[in-house]
Amino acid sequence: MLASFSCSKFDVTSLFVQNWQEDIDAVAADADFREFPRTPILSRESENVTHITRGRVHAGRVQKRLPWLYRLYKNEILELASQSWPEPIKSASDDRYGIVLNVQRGNSMRFECHIDSNPVTGLLFFTEHDWGGGELVIGHDPAAIGVETVERDCSVIEPRTGLLVFFDGKTYPHYARALVSESDVRVVAVMNFYTESCPESTRPRELNRHLFGAE
Ligand SMILES: [Fe+2]
Repeated sequence: MLASFSCSKFDVTSLFVQNWQEDIDAVAADADFREFPRTPILSRESENVTHITRGRVHAGRVQKRLPWLYRLYKNEILELASQSWPEPIKSASDDRYGIVLNVQRGNSMRFECHIDSNPVTGLLFFTEHDWGGGELVIGHDPAAIGVETVERDCSVIEPRTGLLVFFDGKTYPHYARALVSESDVRVVAVMNFYTESCPESTRPRELNRHLFGAE
């Protein structure tokens, strides 16, 4: 029997560099905003959903333009992930997907309902939303397919600047709700972590082909 859903939360605002807000705003404004096709293998969208519109800042750009965030991923945040998990934890050694930013601008974008290929996921929020929306919704039923089904039995995490969350995104389907205000922006860093029982070598090759055009 599967253990019930749980997640660990930390406030890591004190780890941010002084000019983090300007850095994040500039990089997020420059994200790759478009319709993304549903992800092979991992999508948990209803069958009729073919594309989801959102913004993505690719890992290479995070590393280059937000070096302090990349360092946090490899050091302090990795340490917090290790404290939160019963098994030893590793960050990704492949820099194409270790840490990326997801950006939602306005109220028509959301993040795809999916499961992760990595056993431990860290999300670090850089925004909060007075008008509402943008919540991370994690379904408690590992078999749930589609946003409506996930919403029926779920945990809802409201974005808070500096909030870091770790959870088992490989087991539990999750997505991000759309924002309410058309002038609002949501920025979150998504970090992949691996364990000995589910190492990085288990990442599906098809996923890399889909995302990067190469394995
Ligand atoms: Fe995920």
